Amino acid sequence: MYKHLITTTENGILTITINRPDKLNALNRETIEELGSAVRHAAETDNVRVVILTGAGEKAFVAGADISEFAGFDRAQGETLARGGQEIFLAVEQCVKPVIAAINGFALGGGCELAMACHIRIASETARFGQPEVKLGLIPGYGGTQRMAWLSGKGKAMEWLMTADMIDAKEAWRTGLVNHVVPAGELMEKSMELAGKIAKQAPLAVAGVIRAVNAAFEPGTDGYATEVAEFGKCCATADFREGTAAFLEKRKPAFSGS
Ligand code: COA
Repeated sequence: MYKHLITTTENGILTITINRPDKLNALNRETIEELGSAVRHAAETDNVRVVILTGAGEKAFVAGADISEFAGFDRAQGETLARGGQEIFLAVEQCVKPVIAAINGFALGGGCELAMACHIRIASETARFGQPEVKLGLIPGYGGTQRMAWLSGKGKAMEWLMTADMIDAKEAWRTGLVNHVVPAGELMEKSMELAGKIAKQAPLAVAGVIRAVNAAFEPGTDGYATEVAEFGKCCATADFREGTAAFLEKRKPAFSGS
């Protein structure tokens, strides 16, 4: 179905593997567009509860946007490229199904930005992060300047973006860039375990969490008002009746996603 992605679904968990290992999974135009389609499709597919995003091979998650495609761009082309990438990564961030990045190696440039657009990040001990754009005479264009500051703080973002330093998995964890670090051989197992835990919860409530937390980072949006609205929406769902009834009846809930 996709040229540069491999997709598999198991127990409501969709795994999307970016598959250009000979180019360290660099995001050329076709790949990033396919990724946008796959995430939008997942958001609309009932039997997908959680998405795991990873890279093919042992070396890279994604080593960035494909430099060979934009070398020589002028100002207008640069703006179009950045706007297009931002839209796709925003679709990842706003996906109503949780997206977990399973970071198996280099997450550089657009790869680090993609990981940061995901809701949760799990890194293997061998993962390396960084925004090396200044080495190319650029800055990140797919949301990296914003999301790195949100996740690791303004000071770290300024330093990493200006030095182009590579960040190892331990430092990424220490500074809040990733949620967990695990041995390379346990990356998918840990990601599946976390995805499985979330997949058991009420899907509409999980979507409400995503919208409410995202609201805290949307300029001009009142996050508390979003929380009130999402809480109210949950109270109107069958799964709220089921969840509370199951608790009171001392049984496990059977959520329908309605
Ligand atoms: N865009 C296009 N091609 C890329 C790429 C990118 N962002 N990152 C890696 N590749 C390609 C290389 O050109 C090479 O292709 P080739 O075999 O046809 O020459 C292949 O992937 C393997 O990469 P290579 O550089 O040989 O591996 P390495 O182990 O020596 O170095 C990196 C690994 C990640 C340090 C190095 O590839 C790198 O610095 N990549 C660019 C990272 C970057 O600047 N990203 C931000 C872009 S905005």
